[in-house]
Amino acid sequence: MHIQANYSLKPHNTFQIDVKTQYYIEINKPSDILTLRSDLKLASLPWRIIGGGSNLLFTDDLPGVTVRCTFDQLKLVKEDKESVWISVGSGMSWHDLVEYTVENNWWGLENLALIPGTVGAAPVQNIGAYGAEARDTITRVQTLNIYDGQRIRYRNADCNFGYRTSIFKQEFTNQLLIHRVTFRLKKLAHGKPNLVYDPLKQVLKDLDKKDITPKMVFDAVVDIRKSRIPDPSQQGNAGSFFKNPVVDLEYFEKLIKDYPDIPHHRTLDGAYKIPAGWLIEQAGWKGRSHGHAGVSSRHALVLVNLGGASGKDICELYHLVQEDVNHKFGIYLEPEVIIL
Ligand code: EPU
Repeated sequence: MHIQANYSLKPHNTFQIDVKTQYYIEINKPSDILTLRSDLKLASLPWRIIGGGSNLLFTDDLPGVTVRCTFDQLKLVKEDKESVWISVGSGMSWHDLVEYTVENNWWGLENLALIPGTVGAAPVQNIGAYGAEARDTITRVQTLNIYDGQRIRYRNADCNFGYRTSIFKQEFTNQLLIHRVTFRLKKLAHGKPNLVYDPLKQVLKDLDKKDITPKMVFDAVVDIRKSRIPDPSQQGNAGSFFKNPVVDLEYFEKLIKDYPDIPHHRTLDGAYKIPAGWLIEQAGWKGRSHGHAGVSSRHALVLVNLGGASGKDICELYHLVQEDVNHKFGIYLEPEVIIL
């Protein structure tokens, strides 16, 4: 293991923010972390584990140790007539995994194409898009506690998955190293396309549902995503910056009186989810900038690095957006991105 001091994390965060970590270490097997932690000088410092850095906003140099996992082996662990179970190393690129599964004609991950980041980050954030979420297919998450060396396997029901959250995000930030994630996927003849997201249904509307393959859905998702979300390698961003807010019925009725066109989605518990992108656009922020940071002109929920932005620039911008949306709609937008 190579320990690098005073190391720039610019290549390891999709916002492309240039901050330095005191020590940077890549590990290619879980037990490496225990070896490292036996070094008392390193162990006394703060630690953090990063994946593809696609949901992080770095606002300053980071004292202590930043660890990135690179193990990316994929194993077929079980198979029956209908399903396959694959166990995947947390360092594998998420999109590469999705591509591999659709090439094998397995259903389950195709709606989640092109989400930046690694497999290990998928359960933390319960990544989701186009009507699917990681929790729909994850069966098991294997972890190692970096402080006491305990290995715990979480079953799906133990992960406390919620909208862009999980037990790993709520309770165990920087304590657990996720090293493997197991997914259950359906074989071609035993699954079906998930077309609940209307724009996706529109793209595939001329096809008979039974002729649609995982690859066709994957291609459609890639096209929609490319047209709406800037490629982070071209323009630094972390996908959706804010969560879509949820308001209760009483507040929703008040809003719809003032804004009859407000897009909304009723949740299972009778509340209303409102697209933050719409609120931001209505507040006049779509395509606007603040210094080197901007609100994407393609999708108002995406904040972008226009070149040379610092994490503080992005923070200033998001506070301005938050203030204006709150002022106009009385809704406080909460970042989805983790701010460090
Ligand atoms: N809208 C606008 N202006 C905009 C963008 C959106 O008015 O600039 C409105 C439109 O009415 C649109 C609605 O917002 O119909 C919803 O937009 P979209 O379908 O793009 O979905 P979203 O709610 O903004 C969520 C996820 C995305 C995911 C898409 C598709 C969150 C925070 N974001 O966005 O996830 O790709 O749905 O399922 O839930 C991510 O998490 O990084 C991400 C990109």
